[in-house]
Amino acid sequence: MKIAINTGGGDAPGLNAVIRAVVLSATKLGWEVCGIRRGYQGLFEEDGVVALTRDSVRGITHLGGTILGTTNRGNPLSWPVEREDGTVELQDRSEEVVEEFRRREIDALIAIGGDGSLQIASALSEKGLPVVGVPKTIDNDLAATQVTFGFHTAVATATEAIGRLHSTAEAHSRVMVVELMGRTAGWIALYAGVAATADIILIPEIPYHLDALCAKINERYERGPGFAIVVAGEGALEVGGSPTFQESPQTGESARLGRARLGGIAEKLARQIEERTGHETRSLVLGHLQRGGEPIAYDRLLALRFGSAAVELVRDGRLGCMVALRPPEVLAVPLKEAVAKLKLVPTDGDLVRTARNIGVSFGDE
Ligand code: F6P
Repeated sequence: MKIAINTGGGDAPGLNAVIRAVVLSATKLGWEVCGIRRGYQGLFEEDGVVALTRDSVRGITHLGGTILGTTNRGNPLSWPVEREDGTVELQDRSEEVVEEFRRREIDALIAIGGDGSLQIASALSEKGLPVVGVPKTIDNDLAATQVTFGFHTAVATATEAIGRLHSTAEAHSRVMVVELMGRTAGWIALYAGVAATADIILIPEIPYHLDALCAKINERYERGPGFAIVVAGEGALEVGGSPTFQESPQTGESARLGRARLGGIAEKLARQIEERTGHETRSLVLGHLQRGGEPIAYDRLLALRFGSAAVELVRDGRLGCMVALRPPEVLAVPLKEAVAKLKLVPTDGDLVRTARNIGVSFGDE
């Protein structure tokens, strides 16, 4: 047996732990393992496919990033190719990918990725590529698994950062607005906001009213604390409004690659809050710090479990599936089903209720 692994989309703490578990579990079965560099790109490059042995994965469980590299530009179904005039054309190279696996005599692929990468894996699986998916994303927005590795590390990093902002906000009697990642899901903002005792948490699932948000800030200044911490998920939006993008989804890289980049809500809010309340306001975008660094113990364990389970699925011939955490077990779900739905924060869920009960405002009332 010869299997391949790749990592696609944005990195998440725990990717290397999955790679290590896959390589060690497969080697134990006597299989050969290779790694494809940068998603599927390595398939088309010299030295882009490397042998992975026990030695290559020694001492990597705690490392952030991915030893294989990753990209969110390498979708074989929509591959950007530059024309002579400098414009970019998107081509479907999926048949070539499947053919490349055949040529290299790879029996199965373990694809580690978020919803985009798993949709690619699902499409390739339908074209005949034997694939097992492993869910990864700090956004925690995949419905089929209770949690993805990387999420709790991102929450821990964000919680610590927001905690540090408290002292400076209080010292200056300022409003601090922190923008966190998560795309259209508010999981990171909700978890980190509650854990770090933010006063206002804005998530895409609960559109806010600027008036309600400013009233909460004024109330804090009148009541005594004299400062406020606002946590905003990057996809947060006003009632009747739309999310804030770094560039218009219709122009630049967003348009070329069909992938709009969210961002800018914190700066926009800071301006609006200062204007409306008169309180000095600063903004911070935590950005890729949330993806970097060592995975916490929980994510290392989940990643190791996912890697080991993925090899078991290949061994048992259960291809076209994705491993998923359904406590207390790690189970297999069909890839097609796994990518069908995003998991958003339930607006009447326990953590939203907890937050409201302890006085957090979501800017909606
Ligand atoms: O999906 C993970 C994520 O970090 C999102 O939270 C964020 O919107 C996006 O990736 C950022 O992508 P990039 O690294 O391409 O800027």
